[in-house]
Amino acid sequence: MKQAEGSDITAFDPLADSPIARELADLTARRKNLEATTVELPGTTRIITVSNQKGGVGKTTTAVNLAAALASLGARVLVIDLDPQGNASTALGVPHNADTPSVYDVLIDEFPFRDIIQTSPESDLLMCAPSTIHLAGAEIELVSQVAREHRLRTALDEYLESTQSSPDFVIIDCPPSLGLLTINAFTAAHEVLIPIQCEYYALEGLSQLLGNVRMIQKHLNPRLHVSTIMLTMYDGRTRLAQQVADEVRSHFAEQVLDTVIPRSVRVSEAPSFGQTVIAYDGHSAGAIAYREAAVEIVARYNDTHADDAVNEGGA
Ligand SMILES: Nc1ncnc2c1ncn2[C@@H]1O[C@H](COP(=O)(O)OP(=O)(O)OP(=O)(O)O)[C@@H](O)[C@H]1O
Ligand SMILES: [Mg+2]
Repeated sequence: MKQAEGSDITAFDPLADSPIARELADLTARRKNLEATTVELPGTTRIITVSNQKGGVGKTTTAVNLAAALASLGARVLVIDLDPQGNASTALGVPHNADTPSVYDVLIDEFPFRDIIQTSPESDLLMCAPSTIHLAGAEIELVSQVAREHRLRTALDEYLESTQSSPDFVIIDCPPSLGLLTINAFTAAHEVLIPIQCEYYALEGLSQLLGNVRMIQKHLNPRLHVSTIMLTMYDGRTRLAQQVADEVRSHFAEQVLDTVIPRSVRVSEAPSFGQTVIAYDGHSAGAIAYREAAVEIVARYNDTHADDAVNEGGA
């Protein structure tokens, strides 16, 4: 190959300034930043339900990876798997065959939570109330039950009052519907986290979801609010993803996290190993994004509640 006049071939490294090299350098810097970050836990139990009636937008992926990321920050986290598909239980590596005591038994037979909670093999700080296939029938069975919208809340409140080691976070993974299981989650929670997939129909159905949250606020649970919107499966190479992200940010400036979860093969592979991406490949782009999201979720809460602490301290 003929060398271009005046160029210095010894200084030429084809990878030095390639997009891949820049991405790797960026990931390393973000990981180091995370390693140097400490967070102040809320000192109370935050109950967050991950909901969106659209299927396949990343609810379960977000519930389990956010939970594992929070646990990696030193928080105690309980994931309640409220989806009969049981994908959250699978990803957390806890058994959930038909004979396993599960959320079904809590909702229908009034089992206490402490009898069904399992610890994930991934971390002593990470717990799961599993779902089994029986939960598929609960949606119908609940219709005829007394206090059918409050059953999860009653059981969870009882657990939180009686346990010696309260979790810092309870994260509820909802099924893709607005039925009684999701209503139970809304009634039990303080906060709604809505994952939004950065694709064309992202905002479809969102007004219905927000309408339901308002209805629950009014009639069943005044403390409920949409605290967090998380953009998931973001593919920075497409203009569409960027447009969807911009549009969501323009509508929900306060709720949308700065952190965006990229589309990443490691994230989608992890559940088949019964792991979260934090355990499966903690240095991958997906794991780093979920850890950054966890830090942001803790920090935003602390910022909005700093005034309360000052007021309490001054009273
Ligand atoms: N950041 C990501 N990168 C790549 N794949 C992802 C990512 N997030 C989720 N997925 C994949 O997208 C699919 C749907 O994700 P997930 O199961 O979390 O959605 P969901 O909203 O819980 O679905 P459902 O409505 O069925 O409960 C899964 O195969 C998952 O592995
Ligand atoms: Mg799911």
